[in-house]
Amino acid sequence: MDVPVPAGRLSGHVAFVTGGGSGIGRAVCIRLAHECASVAVVDVVADTAEATAALLREGGAAAIAIVADVASKEGVEAAVETAWNGLGPVDILVNNAGIMGYRPFLRLSEADWDRTMAVNAKGVFLCSQAVARRLVAARLPGTIVNMSSVVSEVAIEFQSHYAASKGAVRMLTRAMALELAAHGITVNAIAPGVVETSMTAELLADPAVAEVTLPLIPLGRAAAPDEIAAAVAFMASPDARYVTGATLAVDGGYLLR
Ligand SMILES: NC(=O)c1ccc[n+]([C@@H]2O[C@H](COP(=O)([O-])OP(=O)(O)OC[C@H]3O[C@@H](n4cnc5c(N)ncnc54)[C@H](O)[C@@H]3O)[C@@H](O)[C@H]2O)c1
Repeated sequence: MDVPVPAGRLSGHVAFVTGGGSGIGRAVCIRLAHECASVAVVDVVADTAEATAALLREGGAAAIAIVADVASKEGVEAAVETAWNGLGPVDILVNNAGIMGYRPFLRLSEADWDRTMAVNAKGVFLCSQAVARRLVAARLPGTIVNMSSVVSEVAIEFQSHYAASKGAVRMLTRAMALELAAHGITVNAIAPGVVETSMTAELLADPAVAEVTLPLIPLGRAAAPDEIAAAVAFMASPDARYVTGATLAVDGGYLLR
């Protein structure tokens, strides 16, 4: 599914995209670069971050790869500094990095809970604070787009830790939007439903799961990553300058029921 791309909407902007090496994050990097943003591709996996950045550079964009774990304060601080020094003031932050696993609640380990919350929720806090502090100090406006999920709204079996982390993202989005508005920084979230990425590949390849899952989506199919990226690009663009604290479901109608 190809989503049309408006030209030049993000010219002069610098984006910091976490989890940019794969799936939705990779599609976001490509989309923002198409719209003329400079992009820092941030990922815990070096190869994929570099591959995405190389692809963007081949297309003529300014792009750098940065290896960082969003759950590490030191790592995040260093990554933001590298992006800021290498590309200019980061005024678009896309908090996309995330992990997901299926665990029955009664067998959920403390380690699974801690790591999921550390990457999906604490990572959003750390990256947002690091970027927002710099923007405020430089008296620059900016925008933050967080990757939430429909499971921030509805419960799905075996995803209590993941759902809790995305519920945290939903409220952190609103709380940050409230406090950062005075500084000209907007904060929004995108809540995808089912998207075809490595996160869901195994699941969707199982006919028994696909048979149960796909009928729950009124539009009848999973999303392509670039359909999520298009919504991120809107939220990151001046077209959304009067939108803050919102979570936009991009879910094929999944939440309608
Ligand atoms: N795929 C879906 O159906 C779906 C649905 C709703 C929400 N989401 C959310 O979208 C986001 C992207 O997921 P995806 O489907 O593209 O998955 P993915 O696994 O393809 O991509 C996730 C990326 O994040 C990176 N990453 C993981 N932990 C990291 C860390 N600690 N620091 C830095 N980078 C890290 C991975 O290396 C990978 O490149 C996630 O936040 C996920 O929860 C996905």
